[in-house]
This record gives sequence, structure tokens and C-alpha cells, in this order.
Amino acid sequence: MDSASHQQQQPSSQRANHAGVELITSPAFRLSDGEEDDEARELLLDVGGLLLAGDEDEATAAAGSGGPPKIRVRGLRRRAAGGGQEILRGVDLDVPRGVVVGVIGPSGSGKSTLLRALNRLWEPAAGAVLLDGDDICCLDVRALRRRVGMLFQQPAMFDGTSRTVAYNVRYGPQLRGKKLTDAEVQNLLSLADLDPAMASKPASELSVGQAQRVALARTLANEPEACPCTQPHLTCFVLLLDEPTSALDPISTQNIEDTLVRLKKTKGLTTVMVSHSVKQIQRIADLVCLLVAGEVVEVLPPSELSNARHPMARRFLELS
Ligand SMILES: Nc1ncnc2c1ncn2[C@@H]1O[C@H](COP(=O)(O)OP(=O)(O)OP(=O)(O)O)[C@@H](O)[C@H]1O
Ligand SMILES: [Mg+2]
Repeated sequence: MDSASHQQQQPSSQRANHAGVELITSPAFRLSDGEEDDEARELLLDVGGLLLAGDEDEATAAAGSGGPPKIRVRGLRRRAAGGGQEILRGVDLDVPRGVVVGVIGPSGSGKSTLLRALNRLWEPAAGAVLLDGDDICCLDVRALRRRVGMLFQQPAMFDGTSRTVAYNVRYGPQLRGKKLTDAEVQNLLSLADLDPAMASKPASELSVGQAQRVALARTLANEPEACPCTQPHLTCFVLLLDEPTSALDPISTQNIEDTLVRLKKTKGLTTVMVSHSVKQIQRIADLVCLLVAGEVVEVLPPSELSNARHPMARRFLELS
């Protein structure tokens, strides 16, 4: 194992396990050279077609156009280990293609748990989560994660000796035998609102905010191996974000928000973002899902948030 860079390591009982229920319980750690293979392949999240030029008009026209939802969640339940509390209590949610869905709610309401079901960081019941109409439980988990990728609150970097930003961005394609050119790496860094010159910077020298943007670039770096999307000019990818700007300063936050909106407009990216900031959700989401005590109590456009009727939802919004 490499160096002192391995921080906040999880207990082995909670580690990645392809067949198991709980693949990763807390992503807040750094990756070391000797551990890349297993852990990184679980963590690296692939985006389809993002290196291709997008068509803003087509992407915008297709967004939320009334077709079948990109993701359909039905009766999703999750109980804490050992028959403990019910964390998700029959969640129903449709995520339309090409829109940003914001998930808000009180701490502990199950937002991260919901998000993590969508690319099987835990195993939902059969039929509870459909992607493009397919039960995600029937998909190969790695293939699923090439279509549904996630950024966490804390970014995980390969930051061992001589591991640069470019190394991190190249990692996913490299696993599939593709070496991104310098120009491609720089383009991805720009997409994530980083100075392309940062490519040669050691990953160990990044601030958390910078590391988060490198993690976004790394997520965007993965090319699709097969795109089942019926509209091949659009990416079929879903980006899951769990409080992606919680470690960022306001300007970096705005830049990331702008990046996400741009990716939606130009690539037709579908995004599900958990945030504690109601204002942030109002800025970038097309739909807001309010989760309270493991239940979706409202799904509505951000402009109608003040009309939320559920008493806990109203209280949460008043205090936010
Ligand atoms: N692996 C687990 N085992 C047991 N309980 C868990 C597990 N993961 C989450 N929980 C519990 O489930 C509830 C929901 O957790 P979750 O992390 O989804 O909430 P959240 O809405 O994302 O909260 P926050 O806003 O603080 O991030 C919490 O009560 C939490 O303690
Ligand atoms: Mg959370």
C-alpha cells in the first residue's frame, strides 16, 4: 500500500463486494496505488459520450419531453441492518430524461440512501429501480455504473507518489485500454471548471474543492462502451451527486452549478442531486423532490416550493 495518503479508511466489513448489499458505506477516503483495482473500479463512474460535441437545441428539446422516465423508482424500501429502523419507506419517484432533479430534506431523511440505490451501492429489491425501463438489478453492476455515475460529498483521489491530476482523469479509460490525449484531459478539466494547466499538478496537493472538480472531470472522462439510448445524439448518462459542493467556496460552487447546467443543455445529461441548500436547488433543478423520514412527500418545480403542503416539508423549508 502506498504512503500516508490513505485517509479515513472504512472497516473491511463495509468494503466493496460485487455480490453484496453494501458496496461502499462511506466514500470519504483517498485511494492509494496498491488498492486501485478493486476500490477504484467501484468508485470510478462512467459518463457516456461527453467528449463528443453536444447539440444544445436537441438536448433541450428532448429534456423532460414526456417520454418514459430515465429512472423510475417504485416502492423502494431500505431498513437498517439487523432489522433496525426503516430508512426508506416505499419511495416512488420518476426522473425524466435530461433534467436536473434536486433532492432535499432534513438530515437523516434518507437522501443519500435513495441516491445510492440508483447505481446499486446497495441492492434494491427487484423491480424497485428501473433505468430506461430495465430493472437495474438485472444489469451487470459495472455496466450500470457506466450509465449511472456518482460524485460524493468527499472526493476520492489517487494521490500516491507521482499521481497527478491527469493520472486521475485518465484512470477510467485506461482501465479499458484507452489513453486519453493531453488535449482530451485538458478539455475535461475545462468542463469541470479547472485550469487545464492543472493536469500536471500532483493530486496530493489539491484542495478539497479542487479535488471535487477533478473527480467530476474523472467521472466525465469515461467513454461509453455501449449506449442503449434510443436517441444516440444524446448521452444516456445519469449523474448522481451527493452534496457535491458542500466543500467548495461560493465561487467554485457557482462554477460547478454552471457546469452542471451546461452539461444538461449541451449533452442532455440527466442529473439527480442531493443538496442541503434549497437555494442551490432553486438555482439549478428543474424538479425538486422533498424527502422526509424516508418518504417522498412532494415532487414539484422549484418555483412552486413555497406551495409544499406536508407539515414537515413546510417546516424544513421555513428553516432553510
Ligand atoms: N448503512 C447503514 N446502516 C444503518 N443505518 C444507516 C445506514 N446508512 C444510513 N443509515 C441511517 O439511515 C438514515 C438516513 O441516512 P442518510 O445518510 O440516507 O440520510 P441523509 O438524508 O442523506 O442525511 P444527511 O442530510 O445528513 O446527509 C439515517 O438515520 C442514518 O443513520
Ligand atoms: Mg446524505
